[in-house]
Amino acid sequence: MPNLFEAELKKESIFKDRDAISQHYFPKELPFREKQIEEITKILTPALKGKKPDNLFLYGKVGTGKTTVTFHVIKQLEDFVKQNNAKVACTYINCRNHNSKYKVLIKGIKKFYPDENFIGYSAGFIQEKLIDYCKKENQIVLILDEIDKVKDVDELVYSLSRSNDEIEKGSISIIGISNNLMFKEKLDARTKSSLCEKEMVFPPYNAEELRAILQARVELAFFPNAVADSAINLAAAIAAQESGDARTAVMLLMRAGEIAESSKAKKVTDLEVQKAKKKVEEDIIFNMVSTLPEQQQLVLKAIAVLSMSTKGIRKITGKEEAGVLYSGEVYEKYKQLSLALKETSVSSRWYRQYINELETYGLILTSASGPGIKGQTKLIKLGFDPEKINSILETEIKGSEN
Ligand SMILES: Nc1ncnc2c1ncn2[C@@H]1O[C@H](COP(=O)(O)OP(=O)(O)OP(=O)(O)O)[C@@H](O)[C@H]1O
Ligand SMILES: [Mg+2]
Repeated sequence: MPNLFEAELKKESIFKDRDAISQHYFPKELPFREKQIEEITKILTPALKGKKPDNLFLYGKVGTGKTTVTFHVIKQLEDFVKQNNAKVACTYINCRNHNSKYKVLIKGIKKFYPDENFIGYSAGFIQEKLIDYCKKENQIVLILDEIDKVKDVDELVYSLSRSNDEIEKGSISIIGISNNLMFKEKLDARTKSSLCEKEMVFPPYNAEELRAILQARVELAFFPNAVADSAINLAAAIAAQESGDARTAVMLLMRAGEIAESSKAKKVTDLEVQKAKKKVEEDIIFNMVSTLPEQQQLVLKAIAVLSMSTKGIRKITGKEEAGVLYSGEVYEKYKQLSLALKETSVSSRWYRQYINELETYGLILTSASGPGIKGQTKLIKLGFDPEKINSILETEIKGSEN
């Protein structure tokens, strides 16, 4: 009998290199981002001349290439630094996993003192060590991806920027990246002007651009003729229509490839892309919900739980609809859920902010109550199946119960 793995490996595949169509792959070429690449390069070049680069804030919707482009430029910078013994160091921090000033400092310092453990030391102490490092004429660039996830971001940006006052020859610069278009408006005026010394927008891609991006990835990932041109066009059109998001486009073709393979089809056609759409939508919601801050997850959970139990039919789009909730009842339910978890709930002002953000992410729909409903209140409706949202949140919110 042949070995199980040998047999599995021998199975015909339409993928030449599946990794190349995964969303985590870093392509060597980044078409339609030449301008951004050139500009970031220009902004960082002073570091190589011993000067502090300006801080930079990059923003744009999801999947517009912010992380990939930044990695690309930083890699080039690091290669140059190595070859030329320049005193420049970059460190990348994803603030989704390091979401406070303290956690960012702990993660950031690691690169400069790899053998020391700073856990338990004060933020002030760690920052002094960072400053000591820069004083040896080192220019540091901290890349804070998903910077909007840092709870005390004003404090972080302000104190890092102020550190430069103490350093004569070296410097600390920040590249902040965010897809939350409201984030900048929430910052202190002081932090905003410091972080946004330079700013850059990553616009969504149009269907034609997405088609070209996909074409290049298909050539790397699939065997020749394994993907119909019309399937590429369809994936590009769907992603352009939804959000102009290259990640969605790439995921659509990867899932379509998997569907074709599991049904033993020799080619990815429009049909597989159509089927992949639903799966990718689920992947995306899952990702979005699981990366929300915890309190916002609780607000969403309150909406999901109430949607499942509310029978009343109210109006949100003019038509009578099921699952429409009053903002006040959602806030009350949210407070109950927080209490059950022994968490301190946020104020109603923050609650409203969370509701606004959930709407910009497309997770909920809101409207002001019109005639026929007593008083003025906001109406809220979940954009997705409440059971599905609730089950994602079940695993996300530890120890929670309805
Ligand atoms: N110009 C491009 N050419 C080729 N691939 C691209 C391009 N732009 C983005 N991609 C691909 O799209 C996917 C998403 O890109 P990336 O992660 O950089 O987006 P992002 O703007 O950081 O999104 P988010 O805000 O969700 O973090 C990646 O798989 C990346 O390889
Ligand atoms: Mg990113």
